[in-house]
Amino acid sequence: MCSLSRRDFLASAAVAAATSSLVAAQDKPATTSAAKIEIEKRQFGATDMKVTVLGFGGAEIGYQGIDQVTVDKILNSALDAGLNVIDTAECYAGSEESIGRAVSSRRKEFYLFTKVGHMEEGAAGWTAASIEKSINRSLERLKTDRLDLVQLHSCGRDILEKGECIAALEAAKKAGKTRYIGYSGDGDSALYAIETGRFDTLQTSVNIVDQQSIELTIPKAKARNMGVIAKRPIANAVWRYDTQPENGYVVEYWKRLRKLDYDFTRGEAARDAGPDGAAGVALRFTLAVPGVHVAIVGTTKPERWAQNEEMLAKGGPLSQARFDAIRARWKEIAPADWVGQI
Ligand SMILES: NC(=O)c1ccc[n+]([C@@H]2O[C@H](COP(=O)([O-])OP(=O)(O)OC[C@H]3O[C@@H](n4cnc5c(N)ncnc54)[C@H](OP(=O)(O)O)[C@@H]3O)[C@@H](O)[C@H]2O)c1
Repeated sequence: MCSLSRRDFLASAAVAAATSSLVAAQDKPATTSAAKIEIEKRQFGATDMKVTVLGFGGAEIGYQGIDQVTVDKILNSALDAGLNVIDTAECYAGSEESIGRAVSSRRKEFYLFTKVGHMEEGAAGWTAASIEKSINRSLERLKTDRLDLVQLHSCGRDILEKGECIAALEAAKKAGKTRYIGYSGDGDSALYAIETGRFDTLQTSVNIVDQQSIELTIPKAKARNMGVIAKRPIANAVWRYDTQPENGYVVEYWKRLRKLDYDFTRGEAARDAGPDGAAGVALRFTLAVPGVHVAIVGTTKPERWAQNEEMLAKGGPLSQARFDAIRARWKEIAPADWVGQI
């Protein structure tokens, strides 16, 4: 999964981070711990949760095999800085276990979301028995007696229509294993999930290069007062790659961005770590989409969550003019087959 260009990127980013923290230490040694940022929280649909707009996405720590010491640092420093949403899944290769080990002792400080459906291969994962087993396993791995949210992990509309998996989630809710239930996915399946009226939340892709949900699903979820989680919210930061990345997961986004060619993702702006650089505008765009409550940014780096929090605080809400320009560019360039990416 980790390509050569990806490794190169991580190495240069680590040097950059080390350099910038040295500069920060020389310039203003006293302000680092004093300047605690009060991060914005949003009412999460009709649930009883008020979620921090910046959450934590647990896929990368699992798929990239990040060691436990680093995961401990990533999560504990983010919680110290104000994080209150951690999202993971049963199939994120060790993510649930490392989250459990890192922060189960601080369980009261955050909302814990996971997903089900891929515990067994293919169709075998989409049965009531498999879902029940998966939830029990997640509780064990995450070292907790209750989840705040369990989501069906991107199953197709055909599975949703059968109703068995939704009923299995409802049974888990009734049994007190999870407080809320949701659907995580895109396009027509997400639309169908919303229209069943049986889910408390929707998790869907929404970002500068993936905007189908802004008209197709998020307004409908909003109208039903569902909690809305933005996945892939910073568009996998694909402006970092000068050439096509080897990691197939991000290639479609990389290709889209080349065509969209936003001014804030080229040249100096692509390297600008401030709120008006690529990452800042991308994340502020996602959080400006009406109906979105939390952006679960994935990371492999201990300093990243606090950096993104600071970037959001410095930039404030994206201006309407900039939001409209990004929407207009998408409408001008995006062909009909640029659908929401899983
Ligand atoms: N079907 C589903 O249910 C589904 C599918 C996809 C994702 N998800 C969820 O959504 C979460 C987020 O998705 P994702 O991780 O694919 O996408 P993402 O959050 O858009 O992108 C994560 C990448 O952005 C980089 N990044 C973060 N902040 C940055 C900054 N300020 N500047 C430059 N790079 C930055 C991170 O690199 P560093 O390591 O360098 O910080 C990481 O490689 C996942 O963890 C998962 O929980 C769910």
